[in-house]
Amino acid sequence: MKKPQLIQFKQIGAPTLGYISVAEVEDNVPFEIKRVYWTYFTPNHVERGNHSHHALEQVIISVAGIISFEFESIDGEVFEFVLDEPSKGIYVPPGYWRRMKFSHNAVLLCMASELYDEKDYIRDYETFKKLK
Ligand code: TYD
Repeated sequence: MKKPQLIQFKQIGAPTLGYISVAEVEDNVPFEIKRVYWTYFTPNHVERGNHSHHALEQVIISVAGIISFEFESIDGEVFEFVLDEPSKGIYVPPGYWRRMKFSHNAVLLCMASELYDEKDYIRDYETFKKLK
């Protein structure tokens, strides 16, 4: 089974010019992108996520601010990441329960392999753990 992993995007530019980083299919995004969404203005005390997906693959970037992530497999293996620079991303395979916390200024950008489909979500933790 694939595991969540950090992606280090190239930083094209210089401190005097600013930077460009690129997410590109067949290079550092391992699926065809069908959907892009972003979240913002999340208060510090709010935990988002708390779901898993049957099939969805994602690449997630914090384009501003700091976002901390915890991913848990059905077997209980836990992966933690902090996205604190726009040059970092995370590849998220299907089958991981995720929990996320945001600095208030954080903007999460997600590239997703599928169109939005509520049937692809597992929103109950006990149901998720029983998929084992
Ligand atoms: P959800 O994926 O549960 O967000 P998070 O994990 O960040 O808490 O989505 C929150 C709401 O937004 C939910 O009602 C579904 C809706 N939504 C869409 O309509 N389309 C989308 O592409 C996404 C990602 C969410």
